[in-house]
Amino acid sequence: MSKYVLVTGGAGYIGSHTVVALVENGYTPIILDDFRNANRVVLDGLTKILGFLPEIIEVDVCDDKALRAIFQKYSFEGIIHFAAYKAVGESVQNPLKYYQNNLSGLINILNKMLEFGVKNLVFSSSCTVYGEPKELKEVSEDSPKNLPSSPYGYTKWIGEQIMEDTFLAHPELCLINLRYFNPVGAHKSSFIGEFPLGKPSNLLPFVTQTAIGKQDFLTVFGNDYPTRDGTCIRDYIHVMDLAEAHVKALAFLEDHKKGCLEAVNIGTGKGTSVLEIISCFEEVSKCKLNWSFGPKREGDVVEIFANCDKASNLLGWKSKLSINDAVIDAWKWELFLSEK
Ligand code: UD1
Repeated sequence: MSKYVLVTGGAGYIGSHTVVALVENGYTPIILDDFRNANRVVLDGLTKILGFLPEIIEVDVCDDKALRAIFQKYSFEGIIHFAAYKAVGESVQNPLKYYQNNLSGLINILNKMLEFGVKNLVFSSSCTVYGEPKELKEVSEDSPKNLPSSPYGYTKWIGEQIMEDTFLAHPELCLINLRYFNPVGAHKSSFIGEFPLGKPSNLLPFVTQTAIGKQDFLTVFGNDYPTRDGTCIRDYIHVMDLAEAHVKALAFLEDHKKGCLEAVNIGTGKGTSVLEIISCFEEVSKCKLNWSFGPKREGDVVEIFANCDKASNLLGWKSKLSINDAVIDAWKWELFLSEK
């Protein structure tokens, strides 16, 4: 019997890679995506990788009636809820767009789960809930949450609170908040990857777009941070490792007969600076990158990386791919796009 999993935002960057991992692990993903932030090239890519195209339902996750019809049609083993806006700068310009979409989408999903007796939900959260870590830069799930620096960050913070309060009222639910660190890279086939909308704000797409000539130069935001080389440090996690973590999270929820609520960091446990990313890129691509230092970006966290013990103990998940793998795959993906 098919194990149906609803993947909201399944045509997006992390969603599409997770769809691949789900199929490879025997699940039948049903993609819900209205393509407002996804590119239809992904359909071609999924077909090439999987040999078929999973079912895609083009609706807005906030559409109550349409979502009810989907829950009436399928009996879902679980739900992975990606569909949300994620541009930090845009969220500062247009906060209501972010609160409206990101929060009503999650509420709509939880309401339908209660209405139709679906128990298992994986929610895309973010290390943004830790804000700027005060002392230890390696954060575990018990580290204090700090206030985020953008409306986008608050939607994740409040999203986790919605999960907690819903669990208190409905302890039969099995809920998990996956706190992603910095997702990077692409599927090794180069058939799917990230499509930044407009000018990328994330580092690695900006690096590859600069090398290919879509951007003139990269600005490194700040050079006097209190880190080993003066630039900010992040935990960059390969998107295929991240995709696998969703499959493990779902399996954990399925095995959990009683209700549960967990938050789990998904990172590599290693911090990499901006300059280290640049030299890694130059080494693997053999390209000289046009970059220079510029002013600090407001709201940037200085240094953060994951403690991944809980992911390993609870989910049996560990990242396997290195930052080199991620940079190679991101570069191959950029080259693939430039040939299209
Ligand atoms: C950003 C978001 C975070 C979100 C994450 C998703 C902010 C403040 N935070 O995280 O909420 O969950 O994306 O992936 O935007 N950098 C440059 N030059 C650039 C771009 C980036 O030097 O052109 C530096 C940044 O200063 C930072 C590092 O690269 O130190 C990583 O930046 P980015 O990819 O934007 O990720 P985060 O800031 O960690």
